[in-house]
Amino acid sequence: MAEDTLAEHREVWARKRCLRLIYRSLHQRMARACRPGRTLELGGGIGSFKDYLPDVVTTDIQAAPWLDLVADAQDLPFADGSFDNIVLMDVLHHLPHPSRFLAEAERVLVPGGRLVLMEPAITPLSWPFYHYIHQESVRLGVDPLGAAAQCSTDPYDANQAVPTLLFGRHLARCRERFPALRMVEKRFLSILAYPLSGGFKRWTLLPGRVADLVLALDDVLSPLLGRWLGFRMLVVLERA
Ligand SMILES: C[S@@+](CC[C@H](N)C(=O)[O-])C[C@H]1O[C@@H](n2cnc3c(N)ncnc32)[C@H](O)[C@@H]1O
Repeated sequence: MAEDTLAEHREVWARKRCLRLIYRSLHQRMARACRPGRTLELGGGIGSFKDYLPDVVTTDIQAAPWLDLVADAQDLPFADGSFDNIVLMDVLHHLPHPSRFLAEAERVLVPGGRLVLMEPAITPLSWPFYHYIHQESVRLGVDPLGAAAQCSTDPYDANQAVPTLLFGRHLARCRERFPALRMVEKRFLSILAYPLSGGFKRWTLLPGRVADLVLALDDVLSPLLGRWLGFRMLVVLERA
């Protein structure tokens, strides 16, 4: 089942130019947020981030020929202080125990190392889209730091609200629990291009030839209106 999803994502990726352009822009932002040194990617999926940071160690809980290693983000097979950066795109909201992952990230990063996350943002505009159209659930009532699972161990089960809760309403608790992880950036992104593209769905309302133009418009609008209209957020935490 999970292998079928991965194969379908690879196929859609190859067919949809607008999706590749959107991810290029998001991946470039993530790469720019990294500091020089060794970078670990968790939940790498189809492995597209490697195009932007070729030296990245790409891992996922599912095995695939293009990945370097199989690793569970909540139980990392690496020594303390072994990476300068950990990057994740659309992975945190799939983890049953986000707090176990944050503890692991804190352990595996060097002091000054960065945790770079690109995740869904639940805003007044994105909520109806994510709730009614996207296949993943949005449960805003959960405790994102709680011991109870936020979703099952199926790698594609998810609660898209987890990042918004963790780095919004529950940020003070998150800081208390992980004092060594300091938030250095939180930015709302993707007002137009991403929802119009349909993501990894087979449909799109965004022709590839205008995608760059719409992405440029997103860059202008996101700093002004992102917190109300954005579909994504970039969060950067630094290990003290
Ligand atoms: C929505 S996909 C994102 C894939 C890729 N990062 C991208 O942006 O195209 C979520 C990925 O997280 C992975 N994943 C789910 N649970 C995980 C876990 N506990 N540890 C590591 N990866 C996990 C899944 O296997 C899947 O590849």
